[in-house]
Amino acid sequence: MPTEKLDKALDTEIEQLQAEGRAKIPERVIDGYIPPAGDSGPRYRIRGIDRPFIRLNSNSYLSLSNNPQMIEAADRATNDFGVGPGAVRFIDGTFIHHADLEERTARFVNKRAAKIFNSAYTANLGLAIAVSSKKTCWIGDSLNHNSIIRAMRIANIPRANKGIYRHNDMDDLRRCLDEVEDGIERVIVVFDGIFSMRGDNAPIHEIQALCNEYDSRFPEGVITVVDDSHGIGAYGETGRGTAEYCGTNPDIIVGTFGKAFGVNGGFVAASESVIEAVRQKADTYIYTNPLSMADCAAARKALDICDSDEGKKLLSNLKERTLQFRNGLEFLGKESIPGPHPVVPMLVRDTGKTHETVRYLFENGVLVVGLTFPVVPKGDETIRFQINAAHTEKDIEEVLALLGKV
Ligand SMILES: Cc1ncc(COP(=O)(O)O)c(C=O)c1O
Repeated sequence: MPTEKLDKALDTEIEQLQAEGRAKIPERVIDGYIPPAGDSGPRYRIRGIDRPFIRLNSNSYLSLSNNPQMIEAADRATNDFGVGPGAVRFIDGTFIHHADLEERTARFVNKRAAKIFNSAYTANLGLAIAVSSKKTCWIGDSLNHNSIIRAMRIANIPRANKGIYRHNDMDDLRRCLDEVEDGIERVIVVFDGIFSMRGDNAPIHEIQALCNEYDSRFPEGVITVVDDSHGIGAYGETGRGTAEYCGTNPDIIVGTFGKAFGVNGGFVAASESVIEAVRQKADTYIYTNPLSMADCAAARKALDICDSDEGKKLLSNLKERTLQFRNGLEFLGKESIPGPHPVVPMLVRDTGKTHETVRYLFENGVLVVGLTFPVVPKGDETIRFQINAAHTEKDIEEVLALLGKV
C-alpha cells in the first residue's frame, strides 16, 4: 500500500517543527580526517566544502577515536572473532570482549559490577525498567538529559511517583523528598553528572548527603543515580568523572564509551544485585544484540589508556586547553558559565547573533553548536564549544582570534 497519505501527514508535522524553530538542520557529512601535524591538531573535511575544519563540537574529549592502540585492539578482535556477535547476550552472544569490558568498567568506576549496553541512552532506559517497582518514586533534575526523561516514560512511572527539582537546587530537592507520598518504598534520585548544554556539574556530594538524611524513611532507601556521560574520562583528578570531582561515590553510575573514550556504547555500574536485576529485567539489554567485539576491545583499551601515562598526559592537556579557552573568553569579555569542564558555553543571549556567529565561525573553518529557543529558554541563546585533548595551544589561539573579531 502506498504511503502517500502518511507522507503528507508527516510532512505537515515536520513543517510545523520548522515553523517552531525545532527542526534539526540538515546533516553535514564528514568525508575526510587530517591527522595532527606540527602545532595543529586534527582537521576534518566536509563533503562539498573545499576547506579543512577544526571540531569544537565533538564529545571525544580525550580525542581517542583515532588512537593506534585502540584501532589495533579493534582490528584484532574483528580478525579473531568476526564483525558481530550473531545473537543477544543470553543466547551465546556474550564474547570474552563483553565480559572483559564489564569487569574493567566496574573497576574503573569503583563499583562491584557493570553491564554494557549499546549506548548510554539505552542504558538509562534499561536501568529504569530494571530498578522500578510500583512503589518507587523517581526524582530528577529539571535539566536532565532526554534519555533519562524518556527512561521514566518507558518504565511507566506514574506522574504521581515523579518529582522534578530546579536545576542543582538542593532546597528544591529537599522539597521533592519531603513530598514523597507515604507508601513509597524506594526513592531514586537521578541526575546528569555534567549538564551537557552548560558544562556545569551536579553537586553530587550535596545530593548524596541529602539523600542519606531521608534514607531511613523508606524501607528500600533513597538511591542516587548519576548519568555521567560527559564526565567519565574527562573530569576529576584521574578522569573518574563528576563523582571523583565531588569526592563521593553515588550508588549507581551510568556512562558512555561514546564521548571521552571515543568509541561507542554505554554502561551501568553498581552493586552485584543491581547489575543482576539489570541483566534479568532490562529489555534494552536483553532483547538486542550487544556491541561488536571490536567496539568492546577498543573501549577496554581506552580505559587502560586513561589509566596510563599517555592518558594522564591527554587529561592534563585537556585541562590546560580548557583553561586557555575559558581565560581567553573572559579576556574577550564574553559571558560563560564558570567551571573546569571542557564544555564551554558562550552566552550570546540573542538568536540572530548566535546564528551569525556560528555561520562566521563555520566560514572560517570552525565547527561549533548554536543553541537557541526552544532548546534553551529565550534570552539564554548560547554557542557551545567543546575542547578536546588533541587541540593545540595554537588551535585555541586561532579560535579565540576569530571570536575577538565577532
Ligand atoms: C547525560 C547523557 N546521557 C546519555 C547520552 C547519550 O549517550 P550515548 O550516545 O552513549 O547514547 C548523552 C549524550 O548526549 C548525555 O549527555
